[in-house]
Amino acid sequence: MAVRKIIRMGHPNLRIPAQDVPAQAIGSSELTRLVDDMVDTLHDYGGIGLAAPQIDEPLRLAIIEIPGGHSRYGEIEAMPLTVFINPVVEVVDGTTAGYWEGCLSVPGLRGFVERPQHVKVSYTTSQGQPAELELQGFWATVFQHEFDHLDGRLYIDRITDPTKLVFEEEFNRYLAD
Ligand code: NI
Repeated sequence: MAVRKIIRMGHPNLRIPAQDVPAQAIGSSELTRLVDDMVDTLHDYGGIGLAAPQIDEPLRLAIIEIPGGHSRYGEIEAMPLTVFINPVVEVVDGTTAGYWEGCLSVPGLRGFVERPQHVKVSYTTSQGQPAELELQGFWATVFQHEFDHLDGRLYIDRITDPTKLVFEEEFNRYLAD
């Protein structure tokens, strides 16, 4: 296990769509080690999600862990650490809502992004089983943000009002709550 370096906006590999994880790789020691490294990296940097391309591994793989409780996003439900392999997002209801998003690959900034708030995610578990999750509200935003990384997209691509891209410090001083 190891903390890996998170690559940042400007690194060209963040912009390359990732490859599917091959079925035969699931459960392999290589993939298990990669997931362990992602968990160590997420915990070291602090955050609620990490996609493999952020540590320069071009695979459709992400982890999400939402601590829950009171946060800058309001009162949110916890989600234990979960591994998503080859996830596909389907919009159930296109009604959008906005959140101030941040990203470990775009450190020090916050941006206001509107996304659909009701989605269905189909994915493969770390045990190789097919699974589905229906997500609403803040969770729907988190999943779309993470899985955008697998398509070479960053949240800044989805900011419609460029005045709503700000430094974290100024966000906390002038805009929080
Ligand atoms: Ni991100």
